[in-house]
Amino acid sequence: MYTEYDSIIDSLIEKMSLDEKIGQLNQITGPLKDSQIEDIKTAIRNGQVGSIILASSSTAGNDPQGHVNIELYNELQRVAVEESRLKIPMIYGRDVIHGHRTVYPIPLASAAAFNEELIEECYRDIATEAASDGIHWTFSPMLDLCHDPRWGRIIEGPGEDPYVGACMARACVKGFQGKDLKDKDSIAACAKHYIGYGASEGGRDYHRTEIADATLYNYYVPAFREAVKAGVATVMSSFNDISGVPVTGSKKHLTDILRGKLSFEGFTVSDWGAVEQLQKQGVAASRADCAKIALEAGLDLNMCDRCYIEELKDLVLNGDVSEETVNTAVKRILRVKFAIGLFDRPYRENFAYDKEKHLENSRKLALESMVLLKNDNVLPLNKESRIALMGPFTHEKRSLLGSWVLDGKENETPSLFEAMTNVLGRKNFYCQSNSRFYDDTNYIYPNADVVIMALGESNLATGENRAVSDISLSLSQRELIDKIHATGKKIVGVFFCGRPMAMEGVADKLDAVLYAWHSGSETANAVCDILFGKAVPCGKTAVTFPRKSGHIPLYYNVTSSGRPVDCYYNENPANCYLDSTPTPYYPFGYGLSYTTFKYGEIKAQNNSILLDDLKAGKNIEISIDISNTGEFDGKEIVELYIRDRVASIMRPIRELKQFKKPLIKKGETINVNFSLGYKDLGL
Ligand code: GLC
Repeated sequence: MYTEYDSIIDSLIEKMSLDEKIGQLNQITGPLKDSQIEDIKTAIRNGQVGSIILASSSTAGNDPQGHVNIELYNELQRVAVEESRLKIPMIYGRDVIHGHRTVYPIPLASAAAFNEELIEECYRDIATEAASDGIHWTFSPMLDLCHDPRWGRIIEGPGEDPYVGACMARACVKGFQGKDLKDKDSIAACAKHYIGYGASEGGRDYHRTEIADATLYNYYVPAFREAVKAGVATVMSSFNDISGVPVTGSKKHLTDILRGKLSFEGFTVSDWGAVEQLQKQGVAASRADCAKIALEAGLDLNMCDRCYIEELKDLVLNGDVSEETVNTAVKRILRVKFAIGLFDRPYRENFAYDKEKHLENSRKLALESMVLLKNDNVLPLNKESRIALMGPFTHEKRSLLGSWVLDGKENETPSLFEAMTNVLGRKNFYCQSNSRFYDDTNYIYPNADVVIMALGESNLATGENRAVSDISLSLSQRELIDKIHATGKKIVGVFFCGRPMAMEGVADKLDAVLYAWHSGSETANAVCDILFGKAVPCGKTAVTFPRKSGHIPLYYNVTSSGRPVDCYYNENPANCYLDSTPTPYYPFGYGLSYTTFKYGEIKAQNNSILLDDLKAGKNIEISIDISNTGEFDGKEIVELYIRDRVASIMRPIRELKQFKKPLIKKGETINVNFSLGYKDLGL
């Protein structure tokens, strides 16, 4: 896909000076002040800038960002294309992680939808909106598997399962890149952070990781393999080391595995400053060393720390780095610039798109991402009943968008109070005056038949560099729950959270728990659709909910052990801690509906199969009848797990290998079938 331009690129590289080649490997931040524009134009004119990241800080996920400015981007591009010697266009990248102007659920929420088609459609919308603002390339999807909710960035990824990670990778890359990267509504995607960042020790961001090859290949690589198979244009190297080897300087990971085993043909980009950080990580003695180690490892584009532009020329002239190595990196970057049509169409213009449709899709994905974790016959609510709404998130808007939102508008995001007022009017609906003072709860709940509590965590407690040591809900929220629980009123807890929070001691005091996550622009409207029965919840969590922080890490795809200590499947939880039982509060793959489903006997067409037949493409056919035995039509996520009982290494007690999500009408029975092949059963 990317090598088709190699002959043009080879002849272009022959014309390039060493300076111009190194300039292609240099990414800078866009002008933050008008006073910088002239200097940036001079650098562009001299062929020193290959790419601009449209961000005003290195932690764009939580800092306010300057908004897009397509006129300025075209003005700077004009300098590159009309005033530089070889007229090579620049590629513009921005963190369009889970939305642009329309914001979609955080990826950890979307993973709970188990709906690839819908995710792909939503990421098509996102690409359209970003492309219309002149953005060529996004630093998404983030594919870091993680089973440590202390890590703030768990919200940006697909959860704890490699198969779900692979599905999300495929859906997002195809969504962003569309049918053809040259299409005006396509943008280049970036599989990140390659690789193993989600294993940061203690859930503390930027910390070290310890990942054995078996874990690397069986757990972390699958999502990236799928992204490459889906044609992802770029891959971003991660900050972390793996067992003492920083990935950004690791030939094994960036070349031998990514290019050798996964056949990746696009270009790699470092995370912000990750090249220069090799010195801090103690594997480089100088910035020049950083540049040499990273380039020779296979790191092509240097994000913002200027190691390449300031050190590579001397390294080449001194013979410490071969110019051929530089040429290889330049070639990969130019491949992507050709593939996304920048040479034919360097300038971009706004174009119209169906914003209403995008909001509709965002609401659909939010609906399918939300997870009903508990419902003791209290949901769906009757609109005629007397309802009290209280808690710190009644009027909250910004947090509902989630972390990594650069262009979504808080003031365009309805709060739960506003969404409920739209649905109920103000007749039987009592709400505290605003989200800051709970003390007026005494005046609103007495007349209510049911109390809805808007709870959660701030978007600022999630995302980059936002690790927490305690995943409990805040004390004030727990106290408010206790207070209202003591009244004996029916309570529905709506949780606007990014990470899975410790629900022990919280959920048991609520009659219903709806985990709404941070689900984007339409979060509050989707919550109302579910609360009042306009939609039937169907999400299932893609990450485990531990009872408490002390039980982390706790994940479903755990291997067995010599003695029956497995806590997850309750084999013998007593053997885990003296002071508590570390079974999951809610396990991976769990979620309720308003209806009920009855599963029949699982049937396998063949109870055994020869390895050679598997290799030859024969599959194991499996089927099961599922009946909707409740009062509502509903979608059911049917999960197929396998267990490899004897293998060359210890295997997980359960591994998700496929899922389906049929709509099953009330009273209907359908047959769901799966086909397991060599790839599903291999390791
Ligand atoms: C940040 C993040 C990365 C992001 C990049 C550009 O440090 O680690 O995910 O894409 O820098 O903002």
